[in-house]
Amino acid sequence: MKAKINGLKLSYEINGIGLPVVLLHAFPLHRKMWQPQIEKLSRHFQIITPDFRGFGDSGGTNEPYLMDTLADDIHGLLSHLGLDKIVLCGLSMGGYVAFAFYRKYAAMVQGVILANTRAEADNEEAKKNRKALADLVIQEGPLAVAEQMPPKLLGKTSQAQKPELTSHVKQMIAASSIQGIANASLGMAFRPDSNSTLSTISCPTLILVGDEDTLTPVEMAKNMQRQIKNSELHIIAKAGHLSNLEQPGKFNNHLINFLKKL
Ligand code: MLT
Repeated sequence: MKAKINGLKLSYEINGIGLPVVLLHAFPLHRKMWQPQIEKLSRHFQIITPDFRGFGDSGGTNEPYLMDTLADDIHGLLSHLGLDKIVLCGLSMGGYVAFAFYRKYAAMVQGVILANTRAEADNEEAKKNRKALADLVIQEGPLAVAEQMPPKLLGKTSQAQKPELTSHVKQMIAASSIQGIANASLGMAFRPDSNSTLSTISCPTLILVGDEDTLTPVEMAKNMQRQIKNSELHIIAKAGHLSNLEQPGKFNNHLINFLKKL
């Protein structure tokens, strides 16, 4: 489905009925990374999976995608759908957008799920890497990014035992647009540190991380858990950065247990 939001066509899917749960995808993927969650969770809840601008089937624009802009797109979509109370789940970049959304629209958020993400902003080296990635995709295309990223996104267990998952992730990245990858990469470099947001989160919060995640390691999840009052942390064994795809059964069970308490 598509809706005209903030001047561009935003693509999304809705599956199931019940408590609305919005799943925000990682970089540089798209809404279909949530397929294992849609299949299981839509039996109990209303699962809303948008494509951020520039990704999947959404239209794009040509400037760095600030996390605030992406949060405003999600807000616009929820207004379009007539939803004013939701649970927000973000994985990695989706988590950065969840922080931005919470800062602006906390009253709409009934629960937060932060998966494989971090509160910290980029340091100078990370900012340089964002620029290098944007240059790479502009010069060589999404396939070059698709060749480079899966070893960072998947844990060592998945890399050794799940070649089909590596191919699936590569395909998702290769299908992303040059514009989306470059602008989201540059936009992430501008994001503020969200540590000061953590203590303002008052709704129930679930934090998930893979024990093999090298991009947003367990210590970063523990830092978030310490600062968010009403939060619980679960470490998913044998999962890297894309824990929802690497260990979908465990990931789904944590979400179901959490969502049923809300
Ligand atoms: C993601 O999975 O969304 C990215 O790893 C986020 C990032 O590069 O910081």
